[in-house]
Amino acid sequence: MFNYSIKDTCLENKTILVTGAGAGIGRAAAITYAKLGATVILLGKTVSKLESVYDEIVALGGAEPAIIPLDLKGATKQNYVDMSATIAGQFGKLDGVLLNASILGELTPFTQMHEQVFNDVMKVNVTAQYLLAQTLIPTLLLAPNASLVFTSSGVGHKGRAFWGQYSISKFATEGMMQVIADEYENTNLRSNAINPGATRTSMRATAFPAEDKNTIAEPEDIMPLYVYLMSDDSLQVNGQTLNAQ
Ligand SMILES: NC(=O)c1ccc[n+]([C@@H]2O[C@H](COP(=O)([O-])OP(=O)(O)OC[C@H]3O[C@@H](n4cnc5c(N)ncnc54)[C@H](OP(=O)(O)O)[C@@H]3O)[C@@H](O)[C@H]2O)c1
Repeated sequence: MFNYSIKDTCLENKTILVTGAGAGIGRAAAITYAKLGATVILLGKTVSKLESVYDEIVALGGAEPAIIPLDLKGATKQNYVDMSATIAGQFGKLDGVLLNASILGELTPFTQMHEQVFNDVMKVNVTAQYLLAQTLIPTLLLAPNASLVFTSSGVGHKGRAFWGQYSISKFATEGMMQVIADEYENTNLRSNAINPGATRTSMRATAFPAEDKNTIAEPEDIMPLYVYLMSDDSLQVNGQTLNAQ
């Protein structure tokens, strides 16, 4: 695992938005951030899952989270503009954004990729990330130090047979992260990406149905890097893709 020893209050007074906060890695990250003192904004598609994370955070004594139900596949630019205005109005600043939500699409030979699946994966994994980053950066720039964290994959910097649109989308994700990191170098905003590595979630189970789940990390195990990149200990880190495992 990424070697970082988490301090109990390291995210106090920070407001952090997590996409895909209702399940898998995003769920673990939202709860972890709340436990460490952050106010979290839970964005995701399925409201009941977001409500369950909300309840868990409140039960743990964390700051009351906000919920933003948004389907990244259907969202328009105006939805993102409105959402960002609401966040800026309610919180005044954003200290961190974890762009975590994504979809796998189909694992299939390149010549058999379906155009609709390709377009859906690009919409959720690339276009939505671009619009989220574009509309949220002004609010991130209002924080003393702000961290924009993208989510890549092992196939985001080395292509792999049959991982078609997903792999292509993660290359685009790393490219977007690097463009932003270069543009905002020497400002209060840093931009980096996480490669979570094999992690026990429903996406992983879909990609590797025959795998023995007991052999792979749980979302909670990989949290040190997720916390590090949101904490002020990573102020000097910009433009990097880091491995959580
Ligand atoms: N798990 C791994 O081994 C692994 C490895 C490398 C990279 N990653 C990356 O890590 C990130 C998290 O993956 P995960 O394994 O935790 O996946 P997951 O369990 O499938 O969770 C994905 C999350 O994204 C949300 N989401 C999906 N489509 C959405 C949409 N259209 N609009 C809004 N939210 C949407 C889901 O919400 P709903 O549940 O409401 O649909 C869910 O909360 C992804 O970027 C993935 O590519 C994972």
